Amino acid sequence: MKNSRRAFLKATSLGALASGLLDADLMAAAENPGQSIPKVYVAKLLKSSTLSMEGISKRTMEEHYKLYVGYVNKSNEIHEALRNVDLSKANQIYSPLRVLKVELSFAVGGVKNHEIYFDHLGGKGGRPGGKLLEYIVRDFGSYEAWERDFKATGLAARGWVWLAYDADRGSFFNYLGDAQNAYPIWNAVPIVALDTYEHAYYLDYATDRKSYIEAFMRNLDWSVVEGRFAGLPISR
Ligand SMILES: [Fe+2]
Repeated sequence: MKNSRRAFLKATSLGALASGLLDADLMAAAENPGQSIPKVYVAKLLKSSTLSMEGISKRTMEEHYKLYVGYVNKSNEIHEALRNVDLSKANQIYSPLRVLKVELSFAVGGVKNHEIYFDHLGGKGGRPGGKLLEYIVRDFGSYEAWERDFKATGLAARGWVWLAYDADRGSFFNYLGDAQNAYPIWNAVPIVALDTYEHAYYLDYATDRKSYIEAFMRNLDWSVVEGRFAGLPISR
């Protein structure tokens, strides 16, 4: 059993990092082949271009990535716990069901926000082109006006800033979030996500968030943002 367990762990150690699964989960699965592994969320790998950026260090990105993997692991853990939660004890003041569902929104927010953030870093900044630029000019007046509002919102937020398209209003807006799960707007889809938590910049800039936001803009990959824009429900 020990040999098979060692071989299993060796074979899956890289996959474990990539999938965000805990070693404990893998070991349990190795010893209980019939047991299912929770795989609701699978961690994506960092792009190599995000590890050699000017202005946001490799160390910051590596440490930041660990936090992201933690969100993936906890999201899976909470989903697994929900499979066995006692529904008869549901209570709005305190109940395991309430705690799991509230914290699920925080954990999943941590997964989704960071996937947008990591995915569109590693670029060369500049500004978007084509239809996306047209929409930004339409909804903010000019690219410069959008960037001014976006950066200022980054100083006002405690967690996130999202450039998002509200499919109900039919327009873009820079939304502010104070946590991974605050404050979502239904039917608004983010295409740019700026992490303003201190962990995103403290190693590089201490408390100088303004310089970090400038570095974020210089490393934004607009081609990735344009790809997200292309998937929006904009038909006109
Ligand atoms: Fe973060």
